[in-house]
Amino acid sequence: MSEEAIRKVAVLGAGTMGHGIAQVSAAAGHQVVIRDIDEAALERGLAGIGKSLDKLLAKERIDATEAERIRGAIATTTSLEDAVKDADVVVEAIPERMDLKVETFRALGEHAPAHALLATNTSSLSVTEIAAASGAPDRVVGLHFFNPVPVMKLLEIVRGLGTSDATIARARAYGDAIGKESVVVRDWPGFATSRLGIILGCEAIRMVEQGVASPADIDKAMKLGYRHPMGPLELTDLVGLDVRLHIMEHLFRELGEQFRPPALLRQMVRAGKLGRKAGEGFYVY
Ligand code: CAA
Repeated sequence: MSEEAIRKVAVLGAGTMGHGIAQVSAAAGHQVVIRDIDEAALERGLAGIGKSLDKLLAKERIDATEAERIRGAIATTTSLEDAVKDADVVVEAIPERMDLKVETFRALGEHAPAHALLATNTSSLSVTEIAAASGAPDRVVGLHFFNPVPVMKLLEIVRGLGTSDATIARARAYGDAIGKESVVVRDWPGFATSRLGIILGCEAIRMVEQGVASPADIDKAMKLGYRHPMGPLELTDLVGLDVRLHIMEHLFRELGEQFRPPALLRQMVRAGKLGRKAGEGFYVY
């Protein structure tokens, strides 16, 4: 399998991560199809790609011809079967629910070609459990991307219990092709990145609860004192408070007390203060 060229990439899910993955894959010269469950979601995904390409155009990182080529390389569909039937790589970026992931990988086992690399962009769920549903766990790998996908250099490759060496090699080759630097980690709750990233966000929220400092000062402290590009609360707003709460709940169940979600986070999610996408989180946009 490792010798197979990657021509076509199918991305499942047109959300923030899915459309970013589609964009970087198309930019690398792959033919891409994005699948989502309805046309409105696909349109939002294409609009997100358009915005990102406009930024790259404005910075003269790409020219108009290249932007058009990237747009032209991305097709959309609502049919999972059509999306994956001739794919060399499938990247799943659907919501972080194990029941949905299991259903999707069961379908991939049935409809994706036997040579296809089957990847999940989960940020913390068990790759091993997702892989088991496909009936071909040797071909399944975690490919964890970071937001914003066109900007962040890292690709965290997660080796499930049954992931073969050939699959890891192929995942690395895909990562190289799309210009990412990869690290390979063992499948363990939160992997390397979410486990550390979430604990920082979790503590920052506890500090707001305890009145240690304002969100702006906590963020300023980490940016100027630790050279983080963004403070932990700004980052929580970027990723989405609901998304972070969901990951925390999972890591709390799997790894214990240090990940117990702060009450303030629960309250803010209940109030609809989900971060940038809602116009308000720890900051007002
Ligand atoms: N597409 C293309 N380019 C983009 C972009 C996008 N979506 N978003 C930003 N950029 C570009 C900008 O045009 C800009 O380009 P130049 O360097 O040429 O000026 C550059 O990226 C930086 O952007 P800005 O100037 O707008 O703002 P910034 O300097 O504050 O950077 C940031 C923004 C890249 C988001 C930076 O703040 C950052 O790196 N933040 C941390 C992000 C992070 O930690 N992400 C991981 C989240 S966790 C995750 O994703 C995993 C999970 O499982 C939930």
